[in-house]
Amino acid sequence: MDDIELIKSKINVVDLISEYLPLKKSGINFKANCPFHQEKTPSFMVSPERQIWHCFGCQRGGDCFKFLMEKEGWDFKESLEFLAQKTGVTLKRGKSDQGKGINDRLFEANEKTVQFYHYLLTEHKLGKKALDYLLNRGLTLETLKQFKLGYAPQNWEILVKFLNKRGFEMKVLIDCGLAVVSNRGGYDRFRGRIMFPLCDSRGRVLGFSGRVLGDELPKYINTPQTRIFDKSRFLFGLNLSKGQIKEKNEAIIVEGEMDFLMSFQSGVKNIVASKGTALTEAQVDELKKYASSIMLCFDTDLAGDAASRRGIEIADKAGLNIKVIEFDKAKDPAELIKKDIQLWEKAVEEAVPIYDYYLKSVENRFNPKEASGKRQIFAELLPIWSKISDSITREHYIEKLAALVQVKEDFVREEMEKHKSFGGPKKYIQALNTSREVISAPTRNITFDRREMLEQYLIALLLHQPSDLVYIPNFPETLFTQEELKQIYVLLVLFLDSISFKSRSFKITEFIKTLPEEFIDLVDRLNLLEIDTKLQDAYIWQRETDLVVSELKKMLIKASLEKLSLQIKNAQEFGKDDSLETLNRRFRDLSVKLKNL
Ligand code: UTP
Ligand code: MN
Repeated sequence: MDDIELIKSKINVVDLISEYLPLKKSGINFKANCPFHQEKTPSFMVSPERQIWHCFGCQRGGDCFKFLMEKEGWDFKESLEFLAQKTGVTLKRGKSDQGKGINDRLFEANEKTVQFYHYLLTEHKLGKKALDYLLNRGLTLETLKQFKLGYAPQNWEILVKFLNKRGFEMKVLIDCGLAVVSNRGGYDRFRGRIMFPLCDSRGRVLGFSGRVLGDELPKYINTPQTRIFDKSRFLFGLNLSKGQIKEKNEAIIVEGEMDFLMSFQSGVKNIVASKGTALTEAQVDELKKYASSIMLCFDTDLAGDAASRRGIEIADKAGLNIKVIEFDKAKDPAELIKKDIQLWEKAVEEAVPIYDYYLKSVENRFNPKEASGKRQIFAELLPIWSKISDSITREHYIEKLAALVQVKEDFVREEMEKHKSFGGPKKYIQALNTSREVISAPTRNITFDRREMLEQYLIALLLHQPSDLVYIPNFPETLFTQEELKQIYVLLVLFLDSISFKSRSFKITEFIKTLPEEFIDLVDRLNLLEIDTKLQDAYIWQRETDLVVSELKKMLIKASLEKLSLQIKNAQEFGKDDSLETLNRRFRDLSVKLKNL
């Protein structure tokens, strides 16, 4: 066991945190008011089983070391030394790392790996196919060299052997995520993938992402959370684009490495990639150092995606000016740029302010001339409008919203006031759902809509199943609209299935061992959602679970009905009597199904 694991085995994160703040038991977890941001209701959760903590308010989280780093402002080494002393562990210190930071070996291993993979891609026959692929996608050899792209061959040990020979112990390779532990020590994490080095703003290599050459899944594998890599803080390309961002005082944010590289290569260089995640507080803090405006260009519909909306809120609160880049004719910037760079330049040029984008989005989905459309528009936009932090901007968009739904501006203001005096989004959601049946769907930190909340809550319930039974749910995964939850659900069912005949209870730690890296974070978070203690009773738990499932089913049907009624309206307008009949029949069938639920 290495020092870090040894220390972790000797310290209980619950005890450690209890020295700083009062923790209250909440089901199998503990909770408290978060010590890192202002709040009145607790959203700081600690899991004794997983020995981790997470705050659902400010999204900070981690292990015992991370807690001290946040709370005491120490770096990792200082936290390590403190806990070593506290637990009576003498830190091993080899000759080689005397006088060096504890993380330097990890950076060195990553750096060597960059060189190795880059050589294989650009000069070795093993990398030929990958090289052709990249050139084919429109990247030039020059770009591949500038960003040190590489290729990890389809081989279990080629990197591990290469680095072992050069004096890197297996433990270092595991610590930096290059190797995965196995009974023989460890094997290469990245195999048969194009490798993108992930650098910090100083250019140090923190980790990698690796893309398959074909369309196997997962498309990308990333370095997991390590002592030096934290995906939620990371921005791809910033080390080489920060100068341009500063000069333009504006940063374009795209999703993917390929989007970034294609844009950068063709001269639009004030750009970073968020790697598929919505903006986090840490990323916004970093961007703020270089620019006062950002332009978002994500593959997803920003207005329809709660995580994106939260990211936008964070950026607005930080005082950033936000615009949205839109285009058609391609699925993402990489594809667009390959077609015609001018299309991308034009799209950037014509980026629209975020609140205009929201207005356009509701206008496309709801009819502002009908009462129900108005209601939906208000329900969606009021929570967003009342959080616009700059008062001039807010006034400007109150006018625009009033004009769209054709009501007086003062009416919009009153509704916004009402919304605020409800006590923020949490209460607003509750007010919207006065017919709430389920016991304790999490209503915290809500920019999620109710549907998304319920989906998360359902997984949380399944993770908190009563200890004297193994319950294998049998509803279809299509109940989940969030892709990651869908996948986690399937993995969970498979796991429950595999233990049901030999075990009487579900153990989260066992489940997590079976998960691909990229899901662990989210499962940990869902497991930390607060679940009412009443639900430890098997009967109440079962009833709650059934209720949530049936509510989600209803929502699914309602959504189909809404879509159908639009189609029906369309068919009526254009006098398509044939399809009208089928549509009407489908509408009736679904209505009956809804009633029977
Ligand atoms: P996309 O699925 O849009 O990939 O995910 P892409 O950038 O278009 O990739 P290409 O163009 O097909 O090669 C956007 C980004 O989200 C992250 C990656 O950083 C990716 O570039 N991602 C995606 C992951 O981290 N893991 C995944 O499984 C998928
Ligand atoms: Mn994409």
